[in-house]
Amino acid sequence: MVLGVTGGIAAYKAAELLRRFTESGHDVQVVPTAAALEFVGAPTWSALSGKPVATEVWESVHEVPHVRIGQGADLVVVAPATADLLAKAAHGLADDLLTNTLLTARCPVVFVPAMHTEMWEHQATRANVATLRERGAVVVEPAEGRLTGKDTGKGRFPDPVEIFELCRGILAGGGTTHDLAGRHVVVSAGGTREYLDPVRFLGNRSSGLQGYALARAAAARGARVTVIAANVALADPAGARVVRVETTRELREAVLAAAADADAVVMAAAPADFRPTAVSEAKIKKAADGSAPSIELVQNPDILAEISQRRGRTGSVVVGFAAETGDATGSVLELGRAKLARKGCDLLVVNDVSGGAVFGSPDNEAVILAADGGQVAVPAGSKAALAEVIWDQVAVRLADAPR
Ligand code: CTP
Repeated sequence: MVLGVTGGIAAYKAAELLRRFTESGHDVQVVPTAAALEFVGAPTWSALSGKPVATEVWESVHEVPHVRIGQGADLVVVAPATADLLAKAAHGLADDLLTNTLLTARCPVVFVPAMHTEMWEHQATRANVATLRERGAVVVEPAEGRLTGKDTGKGRFPDPVEIFELCRGILAGGGTTHDLAGRHVVVSAGGTREYLDPVRFLGNRSSGLQGYALARAAAARGARVTVIAANVALADPAGARVVRVETTRELREAVLAAAADADAVVMAAAPADFRPTAVSEAKIKKAADGSAPSIELVQNPDILAEISQRRGRTGSVVVGFAAETGDATGSVLELGRAKLARKGCDLLVVNDVSGGAVFGSPDNEAVILAADGGQVAVPAGSKAALAEVIWDQVAVRLADAPR
């Protein structure tokens, strides 16, 4: 694979990305621009990749590097990508080794832009990004947060781990299809907390791993992704907008707002079904007589049922998850079918959680039940693999819906 690095301060973060690629066995040719070397020098790229690096087309000309590198690549990742590089790539300019490589590459290309908010939002950059996406490139949405200097906003380089995961997914086959391009998908992730007092809450064991795997996979397939994250302690998935919430009612507000123009909503979060009737403003103290307080609960809104009934967009696809254990009233699948009907969603991903097998684990095993009667068994595998099957099912159902 080729790692193109352009002249932005985030070039130092690309060194960590490079390490992850090489440590996982990838053969990486780094192609820095001259400006990138102002930030991080050639010895760093060379030492971490184990190969010489060049920025211009005039070195080792007999090996024709300006076409050879691009032709031989399985994936080209430009990280960070400056506004200047995006402009050159969109217009087919080729005045150094990286831009020549981009013109000759026929493999998937990922751009990871990092720049100040004003540059990212400039009409010229917007148009260049749109052109690159139309041509099938993956242009990752920058993260929001602290930028170089004192300002904050959209434009940050996403966590290198997340870019690595995105690229791995693309190399594994996901992301070469752009069946979600032009779609807006909303994914809820994590578990909500319901406060008893300022320091205590009722919560659950959901880690957010499955929701984040779904977000990553959708971004790689070209979707605009909004993640509503309830108490997730993971790095933001590259390319997704992340809205943070704590309680089920906050989750509901955020999901309903994001779902207004969504083509698909996937409720992978575990919202608490109940919340304390009253939240104590002060920390609840032990009683002098040793008696324990009782907690009265009220039911929370069912977001999945609500979103299934009040679709933001006609033809949108709603997906729920059901963590079931099976009981005297029915098997895991029977309970799943009943839940699918009760909630009114299009697809229900049923996990057997007897013994707490799924929480926090990188793996998952599920059966996807469809409202039209179909069902797809997904064998035990990574949460990333399950995410791909879920998006396959969503994409089929969205095929005829206008973008
Ligand atoms: N869900 C939701 N709002 C809630 C509770 C759950 O949107 N208040 C969603 C979850 O995100 C998941 C699906 O509903 O996609 C199934 O959640 P589950 O807790 O298994 O279902 P319950 O509604 O709790 O059903 P039951 O208590 O009957 O098992």
